[in-house]
Amino acid sequence: MKYQASWRSPSNIALVKYWGKHGQQWPQNPSLSFTLSSCHTTMTMKASMGNDAPSVNVLYEGQPKPTFVPKILSFFSKLNHIFPWLKQTSIEIDSRNTFPHGAGIASSASAMSAIALCLMDIDHKISGTSVDLNASWWKTASEIARLGSGSACRSVFPVVSVWGKTESIPDSNDDFAIPWADQIANHYRNYQDTILIVSASEKSVSSTAGHAMMENLSYAPARYAEAEKHIKELISCMATPFAQEQFISICESEALQLHALMMCGASPYILMEANTVSIMKEIWRYRKETSVPVCFTLDAGPNVHVLYPKEYTGKVLPWIQSTLLKYCAGGQYILDEAGQGPQKMD
Ligand code: DP6
Repeated sequence: MKYQASWRSPSNIALVKYWGKHGQQWPQNPSLSFTLSSCHTTMTMKASMGNDAPSVNVLYEGQPKPTFVPKILSFFSKLNHIFPWLKQTSIEIDSRNTFPHGAGIASSASAMSAIALCLMDIDHKISGTSVDLNASWWKTASEIARLGSGSACRSVFPVVSVWGKTESIPDSNDDFAIPWADQIANHYRNYQDTILIVSASEKSVSSTAGHAMMENLSYAPARYAEAEKHIKELISCMATPFAQEQFISICESEALQLHALMMCGASPYILMEANTVSIMKEIWRYRKETSVPVCFTLDAGPNVHVLYPKEYTGKVLPWIQSTLLKYCAGGQYILDEAGQGPQKMD
């Protein structure tokens, strides 16, 4: 028997960062992210059942991509209790990203959440039940996506989601993310994220290796306490449009802490480039001169996410184009904003 499912799933950018994990990809601290809109993966998965020797084949942008297979097989090995049929199935994945390949944008969140959604969809087809995209569906999708890549569990909800148990949010959980769009002011619902591509090269140290380095870091307990404090403050300030200064201060502090942690481990490393630092300083200068509420965050890489309210686009975008693009590789940037989460494509 053959089954097929197609989903589109977005990437996300964390404002409070997940950095440090334990056990079954459980986070050491709560995190909060904007779900993105333009940066997404579109995936078609085909499952051929009844094979003694299961296999995975991946086409990425139409080309075979065997280097993606080990991470996907490791993900599947954690799912045998949920999808027992996976053990006798050959899987073909055909995946495309909207963001340019090698643009240094983390793609595991969009790819792993797309895989989770395709698997759940195929599971329904196998059992002959219809898919109901209710709260329970999204909770399960988030929990499965987490096993593929921690940050992927936040991609399944629109606009903003929170992952990880925190005393500030009674329903929060380490197993799955929860939607947080209803708790924020309209001001944040279409927040802009212009991603400046400082370098399009592959990262020298993976996020998985970065998480592992937190295990023996003496600063780790202090960092987890900071993240807990930042989540508490951020959810409170995002509930209104009036705490913009505090929002900016938390976002930038989180970005800098993430990179500071990379620099103070047993095998220190630096993912920022000189141009990353130049952009951050330009943002500080511009904000001081104009009072426009623009700020930055960073992923685990050199690229800068420039965040600002939509109503400032007319001011901020021309300034980015005239002042910041000279720091970007080939002048590359991506216009993105908070988005609506995954979409079923068939
Ligand atoms: C810096 O989710 O990519 O982007 O769970 O090992 O797959 P794994 O790591 P990953 O780590 C993301 C780290 C981060 C911060 C974040 O998205 O919260």
